Amino acid sequence: MLDDKILNYFKKHEEGYVSGEELSRELGVSRAAVWKHIENLREEGYSIEAFPHLGYRILSIPDRLTEVELKWKLKADIVAKKIYSYKETASTNNIAYDLAIHGEKEGSVVIAESQTAGRGRMDRKWLSPKSKGAYFSVILRPDILPKEVSGITLVAALSVAKTIREITDLAAFIKWPNDVLVNKQKVCGILTEMNAETDKINFVIIGIGININTKKELLPKGATSIMEEAGAEISRIDMVRSIFKNLDKYYKIFNNGHIDKIIKEYKEFSNFLGTRVRVTYHDAKIEGYAVDVDNDGALILRMDSGLNERVLAGDVTMLR
Ligand code: BTN
Repeated sequence: MLDDKILNYFKKHEEGYVSGEELSRELGVSRAAVWKHIENLREEGYSIEAFPHLGYRILSIPDRLTEVELKWKLKADIVAKKIYSYKETASTNNIAYDLAIHGEKEGSVVIAESQTAGRGRMDRKWLSPKSKGAYFSVILRPDILPKEVSGITLVAALSVAKTIREITDLAAFIKWPNDVLVNKQKVCGILTEMNAETDKINFVIIGIGININTKKELLPKGATSIMEEAGAEISRIDMVRSIFKNLDKYYKIFNNGHIDKIIKEYKEFSNFLGTRVRVTYHDAKIEGYAVDVDNDGALILRMDSGLNERVLAGDVTMLR
């Protein structure tokens, strides 16, 4: 599409002006066609300045989660090399899984403005109201054993918590294994799914859902949004782009075998360590003091008997 071509041309000349003449020459269309498409882009929410003798310059882009916008100024080696964006889909994890089965490269992202059947952990639903949050899935192909996959989930939680702290003044924390909380309420959930053989992972899908500009009344009890806690709307593009950047950084550290570094930082973002917790997994419950997260991503609980238990999955409730 010519609109996208024009945007990509601007992207290559981020700092300066681009003249109508140059655009018409480079894209092989008339000056009138360039002008018409600049008008289209303005209608779509791009703020484009036009200066006589200098040309056009993009001042701001709309808060739309599409490939061109998300890749604008994005610096990442693996994550988001390719982005598939949808206005609406059932679940981005399903599409990503399908793509991965058919050989999609690692790093590709599927993102949607809304999901009609967003899925959460333990068969829960994930509410995905239109253009309020960010709902996306990343395909990864780490060279690890299936039992090491929880490390990837920790990488994702750390990337989101770090991003929220970088972009806002909010103190985001991680609740084991991968909920991100602000003021003790959930703003982000992560659903990791994989396709593996006994000793080899074929691919991992990390599904991330973040409540960004969502009104609290649209969210389930115990959940909030970044906007509600920060008191102002947040650019979804900035947030998602920054998550891509952090995910790219931490995934590379993980791939280089430094899970110890990931766990160290993950623990700095954790608010459950040192507290008494109950972990629920379907019908099973276990209670104790959360004392550590080991290098496999397991939660270490100190039981009342004084013995330690390793917990591999479940929902944590902080008791006091
Ligand atoms: C949870 O906390 O239970 C995990 C929620 C994960 C939601 C995201 S939204 C994008 C991706 N697609 C889905 O259907 N689920 C994940």
